[in-house]
Amino acid sequence: HKHLLGLKGMDGKEISDILDRAAYWEQHPTKVTNVLGGKFVANMFFENSTRTRFSFEVAEKRLGVQVLNFAAAASSVQKGESIYDTVRTLESMGIDAGVIRLKPNGVLQELAERIQVPLINAGDGNNEHPTQALLDLYTMRKHFGELKGLHVAIIGDIQHSRVARSNLWALQAVGAKVSFCAPDMMKAPELEAHAPYVTMDEALKADVVMMLRVQLERHDNALFTSADEYRAQYGLTVERLGQMPPHAIIMHPAPVNRNVEIDDELVEHDRSKIFTQMSNGVPIRMAVIERALS
Ligand code: CP
Repeated sequence: HKHLLGLKGMDGKEISDILDRAAYWEQHPTKVTNVLGGKFVANMFFENSTRTRFSFEVAEKRLGVQVLNFAAAASSVQKGESIYDTVRTLESMGIDAGVIRLKPNGVLQELAERIQVPLINAGDGNNEHPTQALLDLYTMRKHFGELKGLHVAIIGDIQHSRVARSNLWALQAVGAKVSFCAPDMMKAPELEAHAPYVTMDEALKADVVMMLRVQLERHDNALFTSADEYRAQYGLTVERLGQMPPHAIIMHPAPVNRNVEIDDELVEHDRSKIFTQMSNGVPIRMAVIERALS
């Protein structure tokens, strides 16, 4: 069945097919259809979310799906029930698919082997966030016309970033080039074999400058001396925008730490795609839900 656990190993054709189907939905902005009428999908978020959770819900409702929203904080998880027993419970009630976000790494694969209904990864630990990368590729393809040959620099907290990993696998599958830029303590050593780490000056020459949120909640110790220090060394400042080629665009998966990894003035700048990325999350998730249920 059609789980979507990650983009590692997915070929360029399958990625393009999902983007094409999202383009179809973007061109057919009918608020609500009945394409998947009668289907039930549970959104199971064991970790907080705004964009992913609500864009899945909008996508499901636009497809005519009956939506069950599960929030761990208001569930029997608080009594110690496991992730497996929770998902198995919803499956036993007859859901047709589950969208799931998890804090730990390595749990989703095992879960998917024991659950019959398709599971869609809405972010698991620092492993993958496939629908985020798909909406990112969709945004880039729409802006530049094609992905092959594009240079994407991903800057910031690579170590904790499932967004960086999913983008790396997907971008390389479609023939784009990826570079990373991060302070030593935010590098992911296991990714060094897949993409080079470059300096900030080098990263700013890319066609796409993708900034990542400094994930304060996942760092044990203070990240640097201060947020100002991080901004000075790795932030996309108004001054650094001047180093980017005129055709280059700014991206960020959000939520944004304004004036830490990106200056306040750049979040809604003409060159920024940050809110466009959020809009594109809806048609991408419509395509992904359809793929899971068809
Ligand atoms: N980009 C993203 O995944 O945002 P949320 O955590 O708000 O879903």
